[in-house]
Amino acid sequence: MDWYRLARPLLQRLEPEVAHDLSLWALRHGLVPSTSAPDDPILAQRLWGRDFANPIGLAAGYDKNAVAVAPLLKLGFGFVEIGSVTPRPQPGNPKPRLFRLPEDEAVINRLGFNNLGAAAAATSLAHFRAGPSKDGLIGVNLGKNKDSAEAAPDYAEGVRQLSRYADYLVINVSSPNTPGLRALQGPAELEAILARVRAALAETLPERSVPLLVKLAPDLAEADMEDIAGVALAQELDGLIATNTTIARPESLKGRHRTEAGGLSGRPLFVPSTAVLAQLFRLTGGRLPLIGLGGVASGADAYAKIRAGASLVQLYTALVYRGPGLIGGVKRDLAALLRRDGFASITEAVGTAAR
Ligand code: FNR
Repeated sequence: MDWYRLARPLLQRLEPEVAHDLSLWALRHGLVPSTSAPDDPILAQRLWGRDFANPIGLAAGYDKNAVAVAPLLKLGFGFVEIGSVTPRPQPGNPKPRLFRLPEDEAVINRLGFNNLGAAAAATSLAHFRAGPSKDGLIGVNLGKNKDSAEAAPDYAEGVRQLSRYADYLVINVSSPNTPGLRALQGPAELEAILARVRAALAETLPERSVPLLVKLAPDLAEADMEDIAGVALAQELDGLIATNTTIARPESLKGRHRTEAGGLSGRPLFVPSTAVLAQLFRLTGGRLPLIGLGGVASGADAYAKIRAGASLVQLYTALVYRGPGLIGGVKRDLAALLRRDGFASITEAVGTAAR
């Protein structure tokens, strides 16, 4: 989109968090052009009893407080994941805590779940569900407060406050910026959390089931992935999300902020996150839907995630460098690639490169 080519140099001169807040403000005030183009039918898919017009979603972390869900959907996303939301509001880590690595088309963040808390997110989501875009598909990504001693009650509280608004729920156990969080990917820890969350869900919405997914880190060893796949199948999880940001720092990084602590996202994450995705697809035998993300910046990238095993694809960092016009381009190129290879739907292509 041409206007973004003009706006980008200005936005990129701003401190990254200021640019982020400004972009959210512009969205909320109708200043970002939306699209009304209908999606190509080849991109349509039914998952968890819901109709996705296209498989390209916004990843968690951009709209943590669910303040811009309707305008984000109007940019052309098939679904939007809000959060991570913690039960109580918390300020996150001291600033600066968000860094651009333009040479690498990457970002490092150590925000630390800065968010307004579950009650505020519930108010925003209630407003959205009462509005004209109320049927838009929303994932609600749940985190834990930094100062909570126990994790499971926090995720259960998130479920109690937010599940009624969600088309799917995400247990985020993979942010590198909350001490101890990634240890919750261990099988015993995960099982304990899932038991509490399931009980809270049955109590909160006895009449309806909301798909439950777990979001994973890219920095998992083979044995960790085997354990997680085992738990996911045994506990009948509805899906896995691969992946969150990485704590690894590839040798290839050039950006001057490359040594900052936090999670790295964007282009350098594409290869490792796709490898984890493909491995999870193999380990779960393609029996549960996977959401693939990490470094997606084109239709070819989205197609590679789908062929590695993703039913849905998300992105975030590429938007910083390419702007919202990227979304239409990704969808157009993805549809063309499916047709080129003789697939009649996304479903047919899922995992065809992972087996
Ligand atoms: C994130 N991400 C993230 N994930 C999550 O589950 N909860 C969160 O609160 C956040 N917050 C967040 C903030 C910022 C500034 C970034 C860049 C990322 C991770 C995000 O959802 C995604 O997993 C990774 O960024 C990889 O995708 P991309 O950015 O490479 O497309």
